[in-house]
Amino acid sequence: MPTPYLNHSDHGFSPAGRSHQLSARLPVTLTFTSPMQKEKSVLKKAMMSVSLTVVAAVSILIPCIAASPVKLNKVAPVADLVAEAEAKIKALETALATSDSYGAGAKRAIPDDAAVLAVLSQAIAEHEEKAAWKASAPDLREAAKALANSTSYDAAKKAFADAKAAHGGKAGSAKKDDDWAKLAKLGSVMNEVNKRNSSIRTGLRKADSDSEQLARSASVLAVLALVTHEDTHEVKKKEDTPKWKALAADMQASMSGVAASLKKKDTAAAKDAFSKAGKSCNDCHDQFRDN
Ligand code: HEC
Repeated sequence: MPTPYLNHSDHGFSPAGRSHQLSARLPVTLTFTSPMQKEKSVLKKAMMSVSLTVVAAVSILIPCIAASPVKLNKVAPVADLVAEAEAKIKALETALATSDSYGAGAKRAIPDDAAVLAVLSQAIAEHEEKAAWKASAPDLREAAKALANSTSYDAAKKAFADAKAAHGGKAGSAKKDDDWAKLAKLGSVMNEVNKRNSSIRTGLRKADSDSEQLARSASVLAVLALVTHEDTHEVKKKEDTPKWKALAADMQASMSGVAASLKKKDTAAAKDAFSKAGKSCNDCHDQFRDN
């Protein structure tokens, strides 16, 4: 299981290790006799230990699916994500129109776009705000994942037909919860991050750019930072995981800030947030990218 947000190892102990420790310590604590005051605090401690044991036990029993590490309404407005997911569906429709266009996009554009569509669908599914096809967003996510992994034109067309149906509101059996660490390949995520990052950089320099479009791109980048946050497989040393997560969290917060500032037409604040985001890209690559 890839590292979920706030998993136990982040705090330096595993649930199994913790309950083992407690069961060894508990009898000692309970047989301890002392003056009234002390006894009370010992009882309190014991009760806390018991409740911690329960928490540890429950967290072992419930298979943990890593939801988004941050509430989606703190990350991006759902309308931005819906608009960008629909733009991806259009792009994929064009790419899948003929076997030639499929051939041209099969290696990179189609899997990358489908991966981003899977991520956006999950963000919409988990979003606190209402959206037209939110109920079938998990099915769209599954179809997009299948499309990203498809290896033939027929399989890609089938997956895309399922995606269209889900976008049209057809809800199937897909569950709302999903593991963010496995929504998309990090390579696909970074390709998209790079494209949108460049277009925002260029757009912020021009006076006549479409600030709504730039804001939507920043919203997508904030959501892609959530996937990056969860997918820690590039971290070679376990003790570096908090550093990785902090950099991805910085990227998310900065990109959410870029979007919010652009919506308020505050270009200076947007530029400021964008340069902070750039620092998180560079710091992470310096520390974690091989090449
Ligand atoms: C938390 C870490 C982290 C953050 C933040 C991050 N990246 Fe990356 N990035 C990586 C890693 C690791 C790779 C190598 C991935 C691979 O090879 O699959 C990578 C790869 C890339 C690549 C190469 C893609 C390819 O072809 O494989 C580009 C371009 C890129 N990142 C751009 C960015 C930009 C722009 C930002 C900020 C807006 C950013 N990244 C933020 C970790 C990060």
